[in-house]
Amino acid sequence: MAQSTSVPQDVAAIPPYGGGPLVNAIDDASAWKDSAQTLPTLEINAVELFDLLLLGTGSYSPLEGFMDQASYHSVIERMALPNGLPWSIPITLSTSPDVAAQLSPGQTILLTKDQTPVGTLTLTECYPATFEAEMQSVFQTTDPNHPGVAALMKRGAVYLAGPVRVFIDNIDFEGKDRYLPPAASRQYFQERGWRTVVGFQTRNPVHRAHEYLLKCALETVDGLFLHPLVGETKADDIPAAVRLQCYDALLGSYYNPKHSVLGTYPAAMRYAGPKEALLHAIVRQNHGCTHFIVGRDHAGVGNYYGTYDAQHLLRSLAPDQLAIRPILFENAFYCYGCGQLVTAKTCPHKPEQHLFLSGTRVRELLTQGEDLPTEFTRPEVAEILRRAYLAS
Ligand code: ADX
Repeated sequence: MAQSTSVPQDVAAIPPYGGGPLVNAIDDASAWKDSAQTLPTLEINAVELFDLLLLGTGSYSPLEGFMDQASYHSVIERMALPNGLPWSIPITLSTSPDVAAQLSPGQTILLTKDQTPVGTLTLTECYPATFEAEMQSVFQTTDPNHPGVAALMKRGAVYLAGPVRVFIDNIDFEGKDRYLPPAASRQYFQERGWRTVVGFQTRNPVHRAHEYLLKCALETVDGLFLHPLVGETKADDIPAAVRLQCYDALLGSYYNPKHSVLGTYPAAMRYAGPKEALLHAIVRQNHGCTHFIVGRDHAGVGNYYGTYDAQHLLRSLAPDQLAIRPILFENAFYCYGCGQLVTAKTCPHKPEQHLFLSGTRVRELLTQGEDLPTEFTRPEVAEILRRAYLAS
């Protein structure tokens, strides 16, 4: 476990990203009921819906809306907003050239998802997407087999920019009852008296390796914010509803409730490896976390990124750019020789004594109704996964 600096941290002193106020653009759909009849409407997709929610609730502070052309190009060319603040992934709203031709800057557009009003955009600009440059910058590939590239290829060729309002009551997602928007998580941490909090991003059930990282980190801070992503993921990832059962089973039996809390993170997974790790860290800073765990191949998929690329990227940023401190972990695994979870830093034994289970092998065992080794995952978690696989 490596902390990139020893700067003392305090929840109360962790600024929203960029040092300004937390963005709050939460609105009430009923306030728009009358004017909504006359506004142009735009149906948005699931990724855009989650981005809208994250913009409006301040998770993406200081962004107040979908990016304009200058910000878009600055992000993909320089990994920074035009004012120089590091930002790694464009946050954009797309449509077709035909639809864009009917819109004009200055208009307010009602955003809908499945015909339900979910927010508004005050249009400032329409501009062409540059997909190839965006893919290379964000995903480091244009391979259509990459899930993030595939999602981008389905988008309309014009991006729409402008500030948003979000109708949070009209947006449903898995685990909404466990959602703590940034202002609420900040308040929660302070009410608990936690001066330091480590945030944990995950799109998987918490296996023993994850648990090891969480507990090692928790030994050095006051609180754990388990912040699983519950938005869009690729088809072979475990669905959020099943994962939430796993998290609850684990927290219920293996974590001290005085020092841990779960809040859902309603975001889509982009599988952008290091670039997404920075976005994930920014969001957790906005939520008030002082520390953020980054292990091996964070937000990775296949072999598109180096095992520790995300760590290298976060390490390269100065504390005056990113106040949240990354806690970096090497690959963790169970060693029969040590009789515990270890990393290469802490284990002297040969690979034959290490437990390695590939994702494919885990899926095979689960589909055959077999148990997963307790050294790999807690029996309570294995049982939930086994039942979910058998039912699918
Ligand atoms: S991710 O896409 O959300 O990053 P996952 O839920 O598997 O996927 O990982 C969550 C966090 O745990 C990431 O920071 C990742 O690097 C880390 N991680 C997962 N498994 C391991 C492991 N065996 N050793 C070290 N770090 C790990």
